[in-house]
Amino acid sequence: MATNRTFTMIKPDATGAGHTGAILDKIIKAGFSIKAMKYTRLSAERAGQFYAVHKERPFYSDLVDYMSGGTIVAAILEKNNAVEDFRTLIGATNPEEAAEGTIRKLFATSIAANAVHGSDSDENAQIEGSFFFSDLEKF
Ligand code: CMP
Repeated sequence: MATNRTFTMIKPDATGAGHTGAILDKIIKAGFSIKAMKYTRLSAERAGQFYAVHKERPFYSDLVDYMSGGTIVAAILEKNNAVEDFRTLIGATNPEEAAEGTIRKLFATSIAANAVHGSDSDENAQIEGSFFFSDLEKF
């Protein structure tokens, strides 16, 4: 995947609360184009694989339950400087620390149920995008 791309998920708390449209609107208005998008649900096994890097963290099992507990929207986004600009758009992991106007400040309810995921590097954007879209070269 090109370095002007990032990967996002709209998480079950946000889809369940009806924020999917508003979040996608903010993403598009911030200048990102959606290259691929999937409205789906993760099994506990797949959620565990996606977050395997957090396996030793105390919140891992709750994270897996939460991420497999409802619908998610997975998407690949394109924009110059996509990874960094998207992390600015979504705000800090903990919504209490997120800047005003960011997606997490507006829509997240807690550090665990924090509305959206955004890749933290070009390398992870590639890995995470491939996790959901096996035919990335087509997009
Ligand atoms: P995300 O950016 O998707 O990456 C890891 C996720 O783990 C994070 O968003 C949160 O949903 C969750 N997480 C991170 N830190 C904590 C924490 N201290 N307590 C509970 N969940 C957390």
